[in-house]
Amino acid sequence: MKIDVLTLFPAMFAGPLDESIIKRARQAGLLDLSVHNLRDYAHNRHKTVDDRPFGGGPGMLLKPEPIFEAVEKLARERTRVILLSPAGRTFNQAIARELALQDDLLLVVGHYEGFDERVREHLADDELSIGDYVLTNGALPAMVIIDAVTRLLPGALGDEQSACEESFSHGLLEYPQYTRPAEFRQWKVPEVLLSGNHAEIAAWRAQQAKARTWERRPDLL
Ligand SMILES: C[S@@+](CC[C@H](N)C(=O)[O-])C[C@H]1O[C@@H](n2cnc3c(N)ncnc32)[C@H](O)[C@@H]1O
Repeated sequence: MKIDVLTLFPAMFAGPLDESIIKRARQAGLLDLSVHNLRDYAHNRHKTVDDRPFGGGPGMLLKPEPIFEAVEKLARERTRVILLSPAGRTFNQAIARELALQDDLLLVVGHYEGFDERVREHLADDELSIGDYVLTNGALPAMVIIDAVTRLLPGALGDEQSACEESFSHGLLEYPQYTRPAEFRQWKVPEVLLSGNHAEIAAWRAQQAKARTWERRPDLL
């Protein structure tokens, strides 16, 4: 999969995407990630990418010209252009699965008060929010989406089963998990998990996943 990111702050992407599973996916050639500086597409003397909103109001907006130029240069025929915005549809595991099937994503990261509306109307294929709160810019949301999508790419996780059994994969939260020691500060691991009976363990996990979802996230059921 190819993911391009267009941002005013490329340096924010160093670190989180250079560690662990994402790093391995990049090294294995499963993810080809390129981060581009929006300012490289501003042509006036001060490399201006923002301006005041017509009609007044606080803050600055990202101007359309540099974004259109960058996207038109970077996007290929099948690229899905996604704006990060609190007004987008809320990102979730189903959308991560949908994106993981694409070959080519271009994430356009907002800053200041956001984008000139024409970017939304005439350039974006999709608009995603990572939740009902406002962040300083879209770099963290872009990294959240890249992370969630990359771990779904075939071969990205060591054990393919782990992505199938995680929270949200069957519309349920994950069941409780334990590791050694079997007893810690007098708290014991449930007997069934030590039984070696795979059918009973599977039944217990299914029941626990349902109960936990019912208790914490009934909206998922
Ligand atoms: C300060 S925010 C702009 C908020 C905008 N004025 C509004 O009220 O919707 C700047 C940028 O951060 C990003 N951003 C902030 N919160 C976000 C969220 N919850 N999900 C996705 N992107 C977000 C977007 O790219 C946005 O353009």
